[in-house]
Amino acid sequence: MSNTRTQWNVPSSAIAKRAHNPIRQIVDKLKLDPQATKTFISLSVGDPTVFGNFNIDSSANDAIIRQLHSFKHNGYGPAHGTADARQAVADMVTLPEAPVTANDVVLANGCSGALDICVNVLGNPGQNILLPRPGFSLYGSLAAIRSLESRYYNLLPESNWEADLAHMESLIDDQTCAILVNNPSNPCGSVYSREHLQAILALAAKHHVPIIADEIYCDLVFKGNTFYPMASLTSEVPILSVGGLAKKWLVPGWRVGWIVVYDQNNVFEQIREGLLNLSQVILGPNSIVQAALPDILHRTPDQFYQDTITQLEENTQLSMDAVSKIPGLKPVQPQGAMYMMVGIDVSSFEGIKDDVEFSQKLLAEESVLCLPGECFNYPNFIRIVITPTKDRLEEAYQRMAEFCSRHHK
Ligand SMILES: Cc1ncc(COP(=O)(O)O)c(C=O)c1O
Repeated sequence: MSNTRTQWNVPSSAIAKRAHNPIRQIVDKLKLDPQATKTFISLSVGDPTVFGNFNIDSSANDAIIRQLHSFKHNGYGPAHGTADARQAVADMVTLPEAPVTANDVVLANGCSGALDICVNVLGNPGQNILLPRPGFSLYGSLAAIRSLESRYYNLLPESNWEADLAHMESLIDDQTCAILVNNPSNPCGSVYSREHLQAILALAAKHHVPIIADEIYCDLVFKGNTFYPMASLTSEVPILSVGGLAKKWLVPGWRVGWIVVYDQNNVFEQIREGLLNLSQVILGPNSIVQAALPDILHRTPDQFYQDTITQLEENTQLSMDAVSKIPGLKPVQPQGAMYMMVGIDVSSFEGIKDDVEFSQKLLAEESVLCLPGECFNYPNFIRIVITPTKDRLEEAYQRMAEFCSRHHK
């Protein structure tokens, strides 16, 4: 063995070079005017805790405190989660038509950690994965790290952001390792009908491609809509469903996520083993929250969930009413989750060429930040997070209206 190095040269790895977060890259270009006199209002972060109006139920805090004081949960637990915590998830998500047990559950560091494991277990470098456009940017980042090709299927704003099925099918080949479906959706706020989910499942069945169902916004649906877990609609297609505490329970910082394996025909034999192997690399979520999980999932009062939805619905209504009156903007009615996509008719604005410039100028002139659609692979839209307090939303829309009237031709 010889060492010919004569000076320091420490390059980053190929994986580190492939790792990127497009949202950061785009947001870093958006600058708040240091001279700005208006208070900054962020409609950009999908974190419901930022404005103090969405809080986890205090019963969950009590559960955490009880477990903390027991001194019983300070050690290493099983890598894929404690039996009680996995059982609690299984009891919540088991379906008569697709029953699961604790053995079908793997806990992870947030839903992001769950997605990371799912992409890793299904995809080999050089294969491809079907992702929604617009969609949550983490999907593409995980695929890139894994050297998987991201193939984006179009979602159609005029059809309630349903997937363009013909386009989806045209992207499938024998190297397609999975179709990722996000319902309810970030950034669209859409909630798919049973029929649409069945149509996607029919494609997956026809081509024998498994589904990763990102159902982190499960049950956050507004009046007149129903959330259907994908697994409730198929006995044939194997599904890895991911979820977590971040959204429905309003605690993204607690970093608890899960994978549920729905596999009625034992197609996923190797995948189950792979999930366990991968979960053993880094231990799952912290022991105290795992210990409290049965109480959080099963003893949070119904009123908490109802209050969350009511507040989201009221904010959505307020947002639709205000934004639809602004010339040049066209909001798409959300049906759930925490987001609203707004189309920008760029041709009707003077000196604004696209969504990134719209967001840049809105921030510079009005101290209001919305993410440009570019962050979700979807130009000429912006995404609005609808979780701020009503007075903050009203103020933001007032400033947006003034901004648009100044720039509208
Ligand atoms: C669609 C979607 N999936 C997954 C996640 C990640 O959730 P977590 O914070 O639990 O990692 C988010 C977070 O915003 C999301 O919007």
